[in-house]
Amino acid sequence: MSNIIQDIDIIDRNSESAMETVKTSKEENTGKTKKLYIESYGCQMNFADSEIVTSIMKENGYDTTSDFESADVVFLNTCSIREKAEQTVRNRLNHFNAVKKTKPEMTIGVLGCMAERLKEKLLEEEKIVDVVVGPDAYRDLPKLVESAEDGLKAVNTFLSREETYADISPVRLNSNGVTAFISIMRGCDNMCSFCVVPFTRGRERSRDPFSIVKEAQDLFDNGYKEVTLLGQNVDSYKWSADENNKAWLERKEKKGEEVEVINFANLLEMVANVSPELRVRFSTSHPKDITDEVLHTMKKYENICKYIHLPAQSGNSRVLDLMNRTYTREWYINRVDAIREILGEECGISSDMIAGFCTETEEEHQETLTLMDYVKYDFSYMFFYSERPGTLAAKKYADDIPLDVKKRRLQEIINKQQIISLERNKLDLGKVHKVLIEGTSKRSEEQLQGRNTANKVVIFPRGNHQKGDYVNVLVNDCTAATLFGEVVD
Ligand code: SAH
Ligand code: SF4
Ligand code: F3S
Repeated sequence: MSNIIQDIDIIDRNSESAMETVKTSKEENTGKTKKLYIESYGCQMNFADSEIVTSIMKENGYDTTSDFESADVVFLNTCSIREKAEQTVRNRLNHFNAVKKTKPEMTIGVLGCMAERLKEKLLEEEKIVDVVVGPDAYRDLPKLVESAEDGLKAVNTFLSREETYADISPVRLNSNGVTAFISIMRGCDNMCSFCVVPFTRGRERSRDPFSIVKEAQDLFDNGYKEVTLLGQNVDSYKWSADENNKAWLERKEKKGEEVEVINFANLLEMVANVSPELRVRFSTSHPKDITDEVLHTMKKYENICKYIHLPAQSGNSRVLDLMNRTYTREWYINRVDAIREILGEECGISSDMIAGFCTETEEEHQETLTLMDYVKYDFSYMFFYSERPGTLAAKKYADDIPLDVKKRRLQEIINKQQIISLERNKLDLGKVHKVLIEGTSKRSEEQLQGRNTANKVVIFPRGNHQKGDYVNVLVNDCTAATLFGEVVD
């Protein structure tokens, strides 16, 4: 395979999680009078939220359209994670502005993390925004759109301690009909110093596990074969029928009082039991919280995929401390060793890495590279540090690494990852992998693509196989990002 193809693969793979990708509405016409166009940026949780928003709007008289010029309401579900993510949205808003000049009755709404971060400022600065709604206020959307149509100010950025949208059935957008996401919790209590999420998403809360199992069962009954359970820190999932309040649970636990709690390992097991034919994935695991109990549960169920996204961020303990990640390099390595011991070499592991965090020295940057050598990540999402207003790091530390140094360090991390990814993929050559087919390969109609348990993309000739089937593929070629092979049964 040529280097060019490898490069494209890496970009493809990155933009999949990628906190800066776009997903747009689908076309659905059930004869409703009004049309909604929704465009989503950011993480998978934001995409999952767009499916909740669509459900709420559908109940209130809207069909979806994939052509924003024909929409009555245009929503941008936005991301604030890095400066670039916000810049992309601003450019897009300018574009919508131009269209709105010829169609003044169109309502434009900003949802998600940027709405939460900038609040009224968005209405004042960007004159074209009519509605601003934060992640916990989506039930209010129909009312707010109506207010905006009447020329009133329409803002709700209230953050809730309870809202999980547990009772809302998401309308699946951009779905391949095989894989789907299920939000199991919202918010984040971790306060990593670089991160804006605790400010834009509010306090962590876990969703009723029975509503999660029901959603998984409904998906399976509708032909889906894989669900990914989503949360910023899935390992701290905790729910009690007595009272669903994290602070209350923690107080009880401190006092040593017995409370019946469903933790993440319990939840995984409940979802895995929906059907052995339904694959279960999850994201994101926090290195400080991932337990051996979770790893043993993964081992016990064939249908829980052997893949863990375990963001390290840095390989140096001093930098990790400044980042407020609350683990050290040694702790992280201990968790990786536990994964290898319990689940073996085949378990896929991926990471997020930040290059050039405040005061990071060359030696400390080298430790990120040596951690990568130790763990041998299958792939990573790699970024350079982008200071976010209001975060702990922005308040406490100078953003003192020059941009060219950040970029150079990032490039070294990317180069290292390419080498390791290829090395890891070569270990898969000559082996048979169980693959769930997700659809036609992006490269050719004649090829299908799916993923193995370790979350690696596998491409093979179409034959008589169909989307949603499980097939055994003998892998005979690879790039740094993709495995190629042939079905053997
Ligand atoms: N909850 C997940 C991460 C969610 S944000 C976790 O704790 O791992 C996704 C990734 O974006 C982070 O893992 C981090 O690598 C990156 N990121 C977050 N804030 C950033 C910032 N200010 N600059 C650069 N990258 C950032
Ligand atoms: Fe951000 Fe840290 Fe929470 Fe992840 S765990 S969302 S990086 S604060
Ligand atoms: Fe972005 Fe908000 Fe997700 S900041 S990464 S959309 S939680």
